[in-house]
Amino acid sequence: MTRNETAPHWQDLFERLLGELEHRSNPDWQADQASLDPALYCDSGHFARERERLFRRQPLCLGPVDQLGDPGSAMAREFCGVPVLMTRTREDRVKVFLNVCRHRGARLVGEDGVACPQQSLVCPYHGWTYRLDGTLAGLPHAEAFPALDKQASGLRELPSSVRHGLIWAVLDPESGPAPDIAAFLGGIDRDLESIGLGSHRLYRQHAVKRATNWKLVVDAFLEVYHVTRLHAGTIGRFFHDAVAVSDQVGPHQRVLVGRESSAAIRALPPERWSPQVHGTLTHYVFPNSVFVYHPDYVSHMGLFPTSADETLFVHSMLIPEAPSTDKAEAHWARSFELIDGGVFNGEDLAVCEQIQRGLASGANDRLILGRLEQNLRRFHHTLDVALS
Ligand code: FES
Ligand SMILES: [Fe+2]
Repeated sequence: MTRNETAPHWQDLFERLLGELEHRSNPDWQADQASLDPALYCDSGHFARERERLFRRQPLCLGPVDQLGDPGSAMAREFCGVPVLMTRTREDRVKVFLNVCRHRGARLVGEDGVACPQQSLVCPYHGWTYRLDGTLAGLPHAEAFPALDKQASGLRELPSSVRHGLIWAVLDPESGPAPDIAAFLGGIDRDLESIGLGSHRLYRQHAVKRATNWKLVVDAFLEVYHVTRLHAGTIGRFFHDAVAVSDQVGPHQRVLVGRESSAAIRALPPERWSPQVHGTLTHYVFPNSVFVYHPDYVSHMGLFPTSADETLFVHSMLIPEAPSTDKAEAHWARSFELIDGGVFNGEDLAVCEQIQRGLASGANDRLILGRLEQNLRRFHHTLDVALS
């Protein structure tokens, strides 16, 4: 048996983090400086290729199942310009459809991002009515449609699956069977299992459109060079300055950021090393999701671009169990305000918007990547491969 088969799940990653904390042993310290072309973030032709090859072909995490509310509910949201309708049937099956009536194409559910209990889905234009499983239940004056095949006129379904309490779907209805998310996630799947993500509950969700290219946001979550500086007034003091180790896992990345001292980590046996308490784990899940594991909760960020310079940012805060006291509720409300309002929107996304305008100004003909930003080089290489 190899060491990895017997070691606790996070031991290898932590041993490398200890090496980095104690003597900067990360191989990235041998890397060459690199750079990126600003056109990757500004060019509309490049964005059109990303939309076709990444956002319409790859499985995307559309958020937690909980966002739909109890069984017998539906929620609409436009992802990357595609009107999507997610439903939770009374039998508790999650389905993902195009939010488009099969009569003449009106939107079935108009309000974006609000989960509502629904008996059925009634098109506001002429009243065609669908069940939550997408089948056409009925239509006014059915005798006016003598050739209509009701069986074949259900909503267009998108290939989807649920894994780790999250909804995954491909935005192209022609893209084949439901995606195998365990295979897609590879080694990240075991991480999510180990953390118990599937048993977390949605506490709160915030969706906002920001004037930035989606990749600038991923870039911000893949490097720790900025953390003690940009976040000096919020969370910066909880972290070591620019200490992290990472793994490329297929097209995804796993990053462990230094939080506790090496002495505090070494004082515990490896089976007690927690990737949320003794470090801060982050996953980049290709192409557009980021998970951050805070000490007592998890943030999922979905990045859904609508153009080269506009992105819908959907942040879901996932907590181990629903709050049962006012004190617990106040604690989570404070945590959400700090991380969503203060850190992500107030600091990270604000800088991304500044960069977007800065790049469009033509001041820089390259974005420079140092040895602490090698995860960005790996991320952009993954995208190059996927787009070529
Ligand atoms: S477009 Fe929906 S009923 Fe006519
Ligand atoms: Fe940040």
